[in-house]
Amino acid sequence: MRRNFTLKMHDYIHRPEGKRKFNEELFSEVAPRYDFITRALSFGRDKRWKDELVANLPESESPSCLDLACGTGDLTFRLARRYRRGRVVGLDLTGAMLELARRRNFFGNVQFVAGQMSQTEFADESFDIVTGGYALRNAPVLKDALEEIRRVMKPGGTGAFLDFSKPPNRLLQKVENVMLKAWGGFWGLVLHRNTELYTYIAESLKQFPDSSQLKRHLEQIGFRNISSKKHFLGMAETIIVRKM
Ligand SMILES: C[S@@+](CC[C@H](N)C(=O)[O-])C[C@H]1O[C@@H](n2cnc3c(N)ncnc32)[C@H](O)[C@@H]1O
Repeated sequence: MRRNFTLKMHDYIHRPEGKRKFNEELFSEVAPRYDFITRALSFGRDKRWKDELVANLPESESPSCLDLACGTGDLTFRLARRYRRGRVVGLDLTGAMLELARRRNFFGNVQFVAGQMSQTEFADESFDIVTGGYALRNAPVLKDALEEIRRVMKPGGTGAFLDFSKPPNRLLQKVENVMLKAWGGFWGLVLHRNTELYTYIAESLKQFPDSSQLKRHLEQIGFRNISSKKHFLGMAETIIVRKM
């Protein structure tokens, strides 16, 4: 395992290009441990949240699906299993994550591509379904990512996003921040001897809109029928939207 992650989060994540670079380095470092850490940080719940997200997508015979920030392919493969006659594209910024996803892939209807979620090379209105697991919080500029999602989605299409979630209440935000920092710091120390790595979750969530604001942003971008399900005392949330 590489042990050369030396970037200091605060030098990077407050500028769009810095945040992109930090993410790429961060996920190159954590890739070999990513699947384990996702289970550990969510107390083993992440698998069920992802199963539920895909189960709640619309019935469709052969939709075209895009999984943004696909990582090692957790949601991508669930989409491929659910829509066996559909086409599924997983897109991610980080080569090391994509390499693991490609190695895990046994589906003929899945393709993985390198790219940025805010600026993809897909044609307008090319996907029926767009998903993102822990994706939007990492966008260098959230508005750009949401506009890109809307651009590539067909009218009537569905978006489904799972991520850590920030409560609107300031006191609860502080409590959540302390908990996430402590939990992330602990696992960073145990797995990488570096507390910086997983405290990024708490820090990126600080920059991210709270749960109510996020839904307003989605509505302003033009998404409708916004529904959501909170998980784990509201610390994570799945949001499903339609493009009308
Ligand atoms: C926390 S992982 C989520 C992986 C997977 N979706 C899941 O649910 O387990 C976040 C992923 O976002 C990717 N990422 C970060 N910034 C990105 C960007 N600007 N564009 C595309 N992918 C990005 C990272 O490389 C990483 O694989």
